[in-house]
Amino acid sequence: MKTKRFGVSLDENLVDSFDAFIAKHHFPNRSQAIGFLIQKNLTEEKWEENREVAGAIVLVYDHHRRELQNRSTHIQHDFHHLVLSVQHVHLDHHNCLETIAVKGRARELAEFSDRLIGIKGVMYGKLVMCSL
Ligand code: NI
Repeated sequence: MKTKRFGVSLDENLVDSFDAFIAKHHFPNRSQAIGFLIQKNLTEEKWEENREVAGAIVLVYDHHRRELQNRSTHIQHDFHHLVLSVQHVHLDHHNCLETIAVKGRARELAEFSDRLIGIKGVMYGKLVMCSL
């Protein structure tokens, strides 16, 4: 992709805070950090407009929890039109890490993700979305 240069003038305090943000998140330079923040905001805007986005739902759970896997499978079938792939990794004797790649309308993805994360016994869950 072609890059374009442009000048930015900001309040000194804001630049200091921005540089601290860059250091904390290990961005290689200001351009990379600005690009990330713009992309993040555009994604959120599309989410609000319910546009088509792609992403992943990450779940960590103990597969011994009764009914958890059945409930998860049931919900994934209800939203099967959003699912691109599912990867299941057995972390140890108890814990499973599931990554579900998804694509669809932002609000529907959020609902799908909320339903999965809300299953009793899910220890960690997060939806990551990126605008297309
Ligand atoms: Ni497992």
